[in-house]
Formats: sequence, structure tokens, C-alpha cells
Amino acid sequence: MAEPTQPILFFDSGVGGLSVVTPTARLLPTAPIVYAADSAGFPYGTKTEAEIAARVPALLGRLVERYRPRLVVIACNTASTIALPVVRAALDVPVVGTVPAIKVAAEASRTRVIGVLGTEATVRQPYVDDLAARFAADCTVLRHGSAALVELAEAALAGTPPSRDAIAAELAGLFGQPGGGRIDVIVNACTHFPLLEKRMREVAPHVAFVDGGPGIARRIVTLTVGQAFPATPVPGRLVFTRLGERERRIAAGLASQGFGTVEAL
Ligand code: DGL
Repeated sequence: MAEPTQPILFFDSGVGGLSVVTPTARLLPTAPIVYAADSAGFPYGTKTEAEIAARVPALLGRLVERYRPRLVVIACNTASTIALPVVRAALDVPVVGTVPAIKVAAEASRTRVIGVLGTEATVRQPYVDDLAARFAADCTVLRHGSAALVELAEAALAGTPPSRDAIAAELAGLFGQPGGGRIDVIVNACTHFPLLEKRMREVAPHVAFVDGGPGIARRIVTLTVGQAFPATPVPGRLVFTRLGERERRIAAGLASQGFGTVEAL
């Protein structure tokens, strides 16, 4: 049985996983949170499958040993679509993964043309073919991998909001494909991208944007039903695999979101 102070550990390459923390904190406002960002390994989206599969389970093993979480959330589509089964097999705590919300998009689409926006590594995964075949068989599913959007999201969190043009250039990677003009729902299949959603909606107001965050938050609630939590919110802890100037700036910006301490793994 979990102790009230036992945290939920969120893991991502960078700040993207905050788009999963936010809906979770809304449902479980007093849950102690450890947010771990693999800043030394960032970005994941341009790495090979072998690199991700070697790095992520080992890091999560160390994090679990140090923080003894009640639950691990891989708040990263790239790591989840590549390494989730290996991580689950290696850890003795429940692990929740993040996978592209293609099912949600297919339920919402009227034109039956869906865009999937993820990292380059995520959009080439067989896992995505499988989701498209299972949940969107009657849809055209167009994909675009963008490393630039990941960088733009990191910059936004560090205090530099993206320009409209920069976002438009990346969305053009979907809209410019044959049939792309008919896309009415875009899956933000990288946890960094919902952090840019406001700007995306300005650029493409005719499109609905969906992501896995709210569904994962509900899953976390289900998995922790009956567990004890603190009576009042406790400050979250930020952990970076490299703690430099950039990470400290991000941490300072997140103080207002309830993160009280920053440490290096
Ligand atoms: N936030 C991650 C994802 O959901 C990866 C971003 C990156 O490091 O490239 O895929």
C-alpha cells in the first residue's frame, strides 16, 4: 500500500511531460510529484530506436530506486512507443505510457482525414501503424515528424514564446501533404506539443487538437484509487540528468506551478 508521501514519477526527455502533469494535478491536486527530465539525453526524437531502448529503462531504474514512486508515468511518446514493454518488464512498480491519441482523433474527425504530429522517431514506429489500423481504419492518417516544435516548446517554457510563422511552417508539414487540406483533427503525439497548442489554434483555427494528457490523467486516477495522498498539496520536485544554466532557468519558471526543489540525478 502506498504511503501518502510516495510520489508519482513523471519522466520525459525535457519539459513536454508537463502537459501530462497539468491534467493529472487537476484530478489529484495533493499527489506528490517528481518530474524527471533527461536533459542530458534531450532530444529523443532524433535518436535511434536502439539509443532510446538502451537509455530509458536504465534511467528509470535509477529514478525508481532513488524516489520509490507509487507509479511511473512515461510522459513521452517517443520513449513509450519504443521502450514501454522493456521498462514494464524491468520495474516492479506500475508504469503508464503515453501513446498517440489516434483513437480520440478518429472519434472526433468528420472529414476522416487526421494529422499525427510527433517526433521523427515516434511517427515512424510500427506502433503508430497499429493504432491507425485499429482505431482509424476508415481515415487517412497523415504524419509529420518535427524536431523544431520540440525545441520551440522548450524555448517557450524557458520564456521565449514561438512566432506564428515558426508554428505555421511546422504545421505545413501536414497540410502540405496530398489530402492535407482536409485535416480536421491533429493529434499532438509528442508531449511537448500541447505546450504550443494556443499558438497552433491561432494558426489553424479550423482544426481540433487532441493529445493523450487528459486520458493519461484519468488512467492515473484509476490506478491510484483507494491510495492515501497528503491532505494538502506538497511542493513538486524537479530532477534533471544534467543541471546547468538552462535547466535552472526552467526550474525558476516552474516555481509558480508548484515545483519547490530542483536536483540532479
Ligand atoms: N516529449 C517527447 C515525446 O513525447 C520527446 C521530445 C524529444 O525529446 O524529442 O515524444
